Amino acid sequence: MRLQGKVAIITGASTGIGRAAAILFALEGARVAVVADRDIEGARQTVAAVERDGGHALFIQANIAREADATRIATETVARFGALHILYNNAAIAPGTDNFIETTPEDDWQRILDVNLKGAYLCIKHAVPYMERSGGGAIVNTSSLNGVIALGPLAYGASKMAVVSLTRSLAQELGPRNIRVNCIAPGYVDTEMTRRLRRMQPNMTEEQQDQRMHAFAGRTPLRRVAQPDEIARAALFFASDDSSFVTGQILTVDGGYMIQ
Ligand SMILES: NC(=O)c1ccc[n+]([C@@H]2O[C@H](COP(=O)([O-])OP(=O)(O)OC[C@H]3O[C@@H](n4cnc5c(N)ncnc54)[C@H](O)[C@@H]3O)[C@@H](O)[C@H]2O)c1
Repeated sequence: MRLQGKVAIITGASTGIGRAAAILFALEGARVAVVADRDIEGARQTVAAVERDGGHALFIQANIAREADATRIATETVARFGALHILYNNAAIAPGTDNFIETTPEDDWQRILDVNLKGAYLCIKHAVPYMERSGGGAIVNTSSLNGVIALGPLAYGASKMAVVSLTRSLAQELGPRNIRVNCIAPGYVDTEMTRRLRRMQPNMTEEQQDQRMHAFAGRTPLRRVAQPDEIARAALFFASDDSSFVTGQILTVDGGYMIQ
């Protein structure tokens, strides 16, 4: 029970990595605020899964890119659970429309930066005062291999690299207030995000799309893509006292892809 007595906010917890983290953090003793914008049914399923395991979860419907919503995420969590110790900034979008400079629509560029980067900034901004009042805490941000090396999407990659910078700057600022800030950079994870991107590839059959995923896996030392739970367990390390003297770090969870 590495999160016994802790209260955690997990953004983007209606599917994928966020859902896996909500279930895992609750199993480790945390009470969890499950944040999602549109996928209400998915968020309810996450809450139900936590409660089936005997845990406590609260669904907060919110768009992290809006400041009023970010404020509400923090206040509703504290109103229900009485404290705030962990913020896992997991929500992001990857619409797949920003692969080439001349065809990336300005609106999409802005939307990606708004959710992936501004959303993290806003959630942190409004969580920090409550974390400090709760005696300190841990923030876990989410970058990507795309944020560390060039893999394609332009706005998505830029947003994820900026999250690295935000992590390091905030680790410095918030360390003296007993708040640690770390970041996970996942490699290819089998989630709805990557399934959706695969489906979007023009002129490719489903079989060819699967082949592309297998080719990526083939270039990965561990020879496979990740499952959501494998990323959630890395987030648990940063969220828990197992990493009590670790801050400002970026952990690639990529089956070794980056070392090549
Ligand atoms: N899947 C991968 O291969 C991969 C690789 C590297 C990094 N990541 C990162 O991991 C994180 C989780 O990805 P995933 O694959 O589980 O994605 P996903 O698409 O399955 O889940 C994204 C979640 O974010 C939520 N969300 C989107 N916009 C939101 C908004 N404005 N406000 C609130 N919630 C919002 C969605 O409702 C959903 O719950 C993301 O930050 C993603 O960039 C994923």
